[in-house]
Amino acid sequence: MLASIGLAATLATGCEYSSPHRAISAAAMSASNDIVPPRWTQRLYESNCAVCHGIQGDGNGPAAGMFLTRPRDFLAGIFKFRSTPSGSLPTDEDLFWTITHGLRWTGMIARPDLSKAELQDVVHQVKTFSPKFAAEKPSASVTVAPRPPRTPALMEQGKELFRIADCVSCHGEQGRGDGPLSSGYEG
Ligand code: HEC
Ligand code: HEC
Repeated sequence: MLASIGLAATLATGCEYSSPHRAISAAAMSASNDIVPPRWTQRLYESNCAVCHGIQGDGNGPAAGMFLTRPRDFLAGIFKFRSTPSGSLPTDEDLFWTITHGLRWTGMIARPDLSKAELQDVVHQVKTFSPKFAAEKPSASVTVAPRPPRTPALMEQGKELFRIADCVSCHGEQGRGDGPLSSGYEG
């Protein structure tokens, strides 16, 4: 539906990148999966994201090799930064959050300068790269319990859990990332 509105807007204005967002209702803007991305959405992605993530979304843009943490390959549909359980796709809100805030100490810079409509467009474009988004729904976000008070007893309990759950084997006794299993990891 969005595609046909986009086409109509394009024909009406005679301009192929005329920012038709303002003319479209919030409901019509929802980043659904059943539509072909309109051209302006692709353009927005190409000019803001493709230098790293690649025009095809494969994480192989011209600048990709410059980063220690490589830009994400979107084709696999595997996302690290989610509010959803392991194995689930991220929610649209998760993707908005990542793009708005960026990912610290990586090439993924924050883009709070993009308008809400522009963010919606790039989120939509990211979701077109993996067939998973059309096939699956993201699970509900996990609820995070309120932060417990910082008491010596709870600190001791946490220390014990860190040991019992075997976090130590990778993260080390002092949490310095030097546990016996840590040598296989980079960075
Ligand atoms: C200068 C390079 C660069 C540009 C430009 C860039 N990214 Fe990224 N992006 C990265 C890197 C590097 C990562 C991986 C960071 C990590 O794994 O910690 C990343 C990660 C992401 C993720 C997180 C995926 C996950 O696993 O949760 C999303 C979503 C994303 N980028 C979307 C975008 C969008 C949309 C744009 C354009 C508005 C964009 N990026 C522009 C470098 C870039
Ligand atoms: C098999 C090795 C392994 C085990 C076991 C393990 N971790 Fe990790 N953990 C990692 C690696 C590798 C990373 C870094 C991932 C990355 O940067 O993409 C990580 C990252 C983290 C982070 C994120 C740190 C940050 O930079 O934000 C936290 C928190 C964490 N682990 C906690 C734990 C806890 C708690 C446990 C035990 C329940 C645990 N880990 C067990 C390997 C492990």
